[in-house]
Amino acid sequence: MIEIQMRKYDVYKYQEDFVIEQEIQEGCIVHADQKRMEQVFNNFMINAINYSGKNKHIIVRVKRHDDKVRTEVQDFGEGIPEEKLKDIWDRYYKIDKEHVRPSQGSGIGLAIVKQVLDLHGFQYGVNSKVNEGSTFWFEIPLVKDSEGSMAE
Ligand SMILES: Nc1ncnc2c1ncn2[C@@H]1O[C@H](COP(=O)(O)OP(=O)(O)OP(=O)(O)O)[C@@H](O)[C@H]1O
Ligand SMILES: [Mg+2]
Repeated sequence: MIEIQMRKYDVYKYQEDFVIEQEIQEGCIVHADQKRMEQVFNNFMINAINYSGKNKHIIVRVKRHDDKVRTEVQDFGEGIPEEKLKDIWDRYYKIDKEHVRPSQGSGIGLAIVKQVLDLHGFQYGVNSKVNEGSTFWFEIPLVKDSEGSMAE
C-alpha cells in the first residue's frame, strides 16, 4: 500500500510561495514498492518546481482510472515542445541548460523514472504545451477500492 508523503514539499510553499493543490481520491489501494514510487513521484514534483517559472502553481491528483490508480503532477510552467517529448526520458537529456531557476540537474531524473516504471510494467507519460505547462502521470494497477471491491 502506497501513501503519498506531501509534507516534504511544504518548504517550497513557505519559502518560495508555491501553491501546491491536492486532489486525492480516498481509498485507492495499490500494492507497489513504496520507495520506488516515491522516487518517481518526487522526480515529477521536483521537475514541476524547477520548471514552473513564474507560475508557482502545482496540482497533484490521485484518482481511480478504470482498474488503475493514476497519479498526476501538473505544473503551469514553460512546457515542453512536442518534438522534444520523446527525448526527455533519455539519460542526460536537458532541453535548455540555462533555466531561469538554476537547477543542479544532470538530466537523469526522468531516465530513472522510466527505468523504474518500465521494470514494474506501469504506464506513464506526459501531456505538455509550451508556455502552458505539463502534466506528468503514472498508473499503478488498483488492488481494491474503499468499498472493498476488487478490480478485475
Ligand atoms: N515539468 C517540466 N516542465 C518542463 N520541462 C521539463 C519538466 N520536467 C522535465 N522537463 C525537461 O526534461 C528534461 C529532463 O528531465 P530530468 O528530470 O530527466 O532531468 P533534470 O531535471 O534536468 O535533471 P535531474 O532530474 O537529473 O536533476 C529537463 O532538463 C527539462 O528540460
Ligand atoms: Mg529532474
